[in-house]
Amino acid sequence: MNRRIIFTTLFTLLFVGVIVVIVVCFIAKNGKRVEEEVLPFWKTEIIYQVYPRSFFDGVPDGTGDLAGISSRMEYLTHLGIGVVWLSPVFQSPMKDFGYDISNYIDIDPIFGTMDDLDHLIAEVHRHGLKILLDFVPNHSSDQHEWFIKSVNREYPFTNYYVWSDGKVLANGTRGPPNNWVSKFRGSAWEYSEKRGQYYYHQYLKEQPDLNYRSPNLKEEMENVLTFWLKKGVDGFRIDALVSLFEVEDLTLDEPVASDSGTDDPDDHAYLNHTYTLNQPETFEVLAQWRHLVDKYPNKVLITEVYTAVEDVMRYYGNDTVPLADFSFNYFLLDSLMNRSELTGDSLKQTVNLWLDNLPPNKWPNWVLGNHDNGRVASRVGKDMVDALNMLNLLLPGTPTTYYGEELGMENTFISWEDTKDPKGCRWGKEHYQEYSRDPERTPMQWNKTSLAGFTTASDTWLPVNPNYEYLNVLAQEEAEVSHLKVYRSLAELRKTQTFIKGEIAFPFTSKDIFSFTRTLEGSEEYLVVINTAVEEVEVNLHQNSNFELPEHGTVVLRSINDTSQHNEIGSVVNLEELLLVPGEAQGDYQHLVILAVSEDDICN
Ligand code: GLC
Repeated sequence: MNRRIIFTTLFTLLFVGVIVVIVVCFIAKNGKRVEEEVLPFWKTEIIYQVYPRSFFDGVPDGTGDLAGISSRMEYLTHLGIGVVWLSPVFQSPMKDFGYDISNYIDIDPIFGTMDDLDHLIAEVHRHGLKILLDFVPNHSSDQHEWFIKSVNREYPFTNYYVWSDGKVLANGTRGPPNNWVSKFRGSAWEYSEKRGQYYYHQYLKEQPDLNYRSPNLKEEMENVLTFWLKKGVDGFRIDALVSLFEVEDLTLDEPVASDSGTDDPDDHAYLNHTYTLNQPETFEVLAQWRHLVDKYPNKVLITEVYTAVEDVMRYYGNDTVPLADFSFNYFLLDSLMNRSELTGDSLKQTVNLWLDNLPPNKWPNWVLGNHDNGRVASRVGKDMVDALNMLNLLLPGTPTTYYGEELGMENTFISWEDTKDPKGCRWGKEHYQEYSRDPERTPMQWNKTSLAGFTTASDTWLPVNPNYEYLNVLAQEEAEVSHLKVYRSLAELRKTQTFIKGEIAFPFTSKDIFSFTRTLEGSEEYLVVINTAVEEVEVNLHQNSNFELPEHGTVVLRSINDTSQHNEIGSVVNLEELLLVPGEAQGDYQHLVILAVSEDDICN
């Protein structure tokens, strides 16, 4: 992703952007209500990702912590989410902000203590929510005692990591065993003077890859899972699983990718990762973890696998060998990197990419943002915030929301001097803005008091976005209409059986418009229409639909900048001439309209 291009594009579009989204609901005629089968929580609830450093600073030092999260339970419950996923809170030298773990079964003091986590687990459960931890099995920190002992060749740690003598180069000196490149740029091999060998690291050199060909290491990681399951967590998001194994033959070079768009051999995209991604042994280990986790009732396993769709689907497993409940679906997120590429047709294509490839009886999911990608409002435009939250929450399957997306938080400009993310730092001053993940990791904006009410300390670990004065939770609570209020209404709406279990169908798609229906026999049925164009559009859904739609619909919810009278909540609108109105004068909000048609209105 090229952030510079994104920023430029947004500047051009923000002041002209107009988006309209419409959803229509009606009651199925003569239908019988479907028996309410009880589904597991991970199918019915919204997952909310908390980046602990940035959510709330309970013990004020400028960095968020566990006590802070515990103190925000009312907010989370009121928001309507059901599952809190915490990015790593374990002991870590923080070279990759917690994704470099030096002790998998203890808490980093920056976040608090084990008691604080126990308290958070209890609080989450007391409020009827679930909690997921981030499990980071691919690599540890180089400060983990396993690595220190492995460097010293102490049994049984000797082979806990991927070691190689390297190879003799043409000039007679010794070099890495192959051409593999780190995801964070440059060779994926680092020489350890002490051990006299190279070790492999898919990420930073401070994040050595663990070796799952060591039975002792495998057992250690199973013990880690058991430790947290016994603590009562409700499941895990498994980090970077795609990289768990590499081929055994470390002399193999990866082929240069023909379509990478880069001629920079230090860029991870330069190679085809035939030997370092999706290796068959990864699925075997995942099956073992599934088996272990299933000894505890009602747990979920979600995997992070950034890879081609056919490969992502393999991580579901099958009825004989079940693997993950789902892998995060990054295709929606990836397709929303740039406003200029967003059309009705592109949305349909992205939605179908997942649905068409989904193995039988498997559950879909949708992700709009996370701690590794820019904020939605900055990627595609502030005017798209409600529309995309609607898409995320109303498509069939489990949605994930990154903290602050319910408010439409935006990327924060971070100067080179303030840049913390190692990924940004490794690309240098000239390119850091294209790669740094700091802009989407800044403190949650709670209110307009100093430092956005995130902390009472005098400074924050990353700067607060200056827009906090008007873009914050309290302001959106107090406003008559706001992204937050739209989000809460959506969360409420998706609790209905139609959105949880209903079918999806696509009545009409065009360059400007994407629409879908959610229907369930005997329950309310809905139509969602999104106008991705930058101007007002009138659409005749009746005439153009692939299947029969009712003539009228009643608006049940709309985006905050649609102030038109005809789309007011409760208004009956004619689907033959649905007017998707333009935005306010600034044009920097989006239009979201949910139309609900009651039985009286349309079914007789
Ligand atoms: C995952 C995390 C990312 C981290 C990387 C290395 O992709 O989401 O933040 O840097 O793994 O652990």
